[in-house]
Amino acid sequence: MADFEFSNRWFQTSKPVWDEIFSTFRPARILEIGSFEGASACYLITTIGAHQPVEIHCIDTWEGGIEHQAGGFVASNMSEVESRFHRNIALAQSRSAHPAPVMFYKNRSDLALAALLSGGKANYFDFIYVDGSHQAPDVLFDAVLSFKLLAINGLLIFDDYNWSENLPQGKDILRCPKPAIDAFVNLNFRKLRLLAAPINQCYVVKTAD
Ligand SMILES: C[S@@+](CC[C@H](N)C(=O)[O-])C[C@H]1O[C@@H](n2cnc3c(N)ncnc32)[C@H](O)[C@@H]1O
Repeated sequence: MADFEFSNRWFQTSKPVWDEIFSTFRPARILEIGSFEGASACYLITTIGAHQPVEIHCIDTWEGGIEHQAGGFVASNMSEVESRFHRNIALAQSRSAHPAPVMFYKNRSDLALAALLSGGKANYFDFIYVDGSHQAPDVLFDAVLSFKLLAINGLLIFDDYNWSENLPQGKDILRCPKPAIDAFVNLNFRKLRLLAAPINQCYVVKTAD
């Protein structure tokens, strides 16, 4: 029997907390920024799709982030990653008890998010997962536009809150998500609620527009 093709275990660290969250929270419309081979998207298809229909929108350039390119991922690796994404999604859909249509946008997140917003999807999504570029200016843009696309009581999860690169010159504050997530949370403090969570991810509930 075919099995999923994942080359890493990134998603496994989030899984225990996600199992808890999604045992009671059942979003019908999901947006994911950063899909890679589809590990998180396949989790959502199989977990939510076991109970109800779920619609998932995936944004990725499938070019890798700066950190992937620095780590030796080149375009040919990424085209294999993209092929695995499509095979993994098809497998998850074939195993889902309920329909789980997946829309993909092979584009930079700033352009794809702006298109979703101008296409009438304000307040549309129940859950948005931000796991694309890990560069602070990009994460801030993803956060701000995602908040516009998120419904009231919707959940926003930022991955890698506590992540930074091991650069020869040490850590670079602009090459990690944390300052962007902090700025976004601080500026929207009256419109959101933070959930208690392990430090590697940041969980935000939208409470107002
Ligand atoms: C950490 S991976 C996502 C992992 C995935 N969520 C999982 O569970 O396996 C980050 C992805 O973001 C994509 N990415 C990086 N910068 C991006 C950008 N500016 N716009 C869209 N996608 C981007 C990369 O191509 C990469 O596939």
